[in-house]
Amino acid sequence: MERLSYKIRAANIADIRSVVRLERESFPNYPYPSEAFHYYYRKCQDLFLVAESEGMILGYVLGCSEDEVGHVVSIAVAQKFRGIGIGRKLMIELERRMMGKGVRRIRLEVSVSNDIARRLYLGLGYKELARIRGYYPDGSDALVMEKLI
Ligand SMILES: CC(C)(COP(=O)(O)OP(=O)(O)OC[C@H]1O[C@@H](n2cnc3c(N)ncnc32)[C@H](O)[C@@H]1OP(=O)(O)O)[C@@H](O)C(=O)NCCC(=O)NCCS
Repeated sequence: MERLSYKIRAANIADIRSVVRLERESFPNYPYPSEAFHYYYRKCQDLFLVAESEGMILGYVLGCSEDEVGHVVSIAVAQKFRGIGIGRKLMIELERRMMGKGVRRIRLEVSVSNDIARRLYLGLGYKELARIRGYYPDGSDALVMEKLI
């Protein structure tokens, strides 16, 4: 696995099928519908990134921005390929692209029970700002996290 070679690139329309599959595997209780990915693909195409290896989509991050504020809409890495740095790399490339567009603060929401994702974001310098009760469809709370770039 250490030698796995992959690249991070902007998503294209043909990737959306694989991304939706990955979304459903990663968030079985409340996946974004495929329409959401098509919407963001039109709205913020340059901030919709995938990690690809030999034609296979290993992970994606979906961001969007307006003026100085960026938002991480969703991120997931295929189960088999987790824990080897892909999520972190996707986030770093998203931040780099947002910075190039003049974004100054990036926000995201994460489930209070998602320790792995919280650790990923804390490690990248995000700070926990607030808690939103009942944010997710299953009634669980979200933490709002923010990073100034
Ligand atoms: C969250 C997720 C995207 C992370 O992607 P990943 O490629 O596995 O993460 P990385 O290998 O880049 O690891 C980045 C950091 O995450 C944390 N992390 C990753 N796997 C971990 C594990 N098994 N246990 C604890 N922390 C872990 C660590 O802080 C790690 O940094 P480190 O290697 O410096 O310790 C991935 O676990 C995933 O797809 N989860 C399901 C979907 C999800 O929860 N998305 C986030 C919604 S807000």
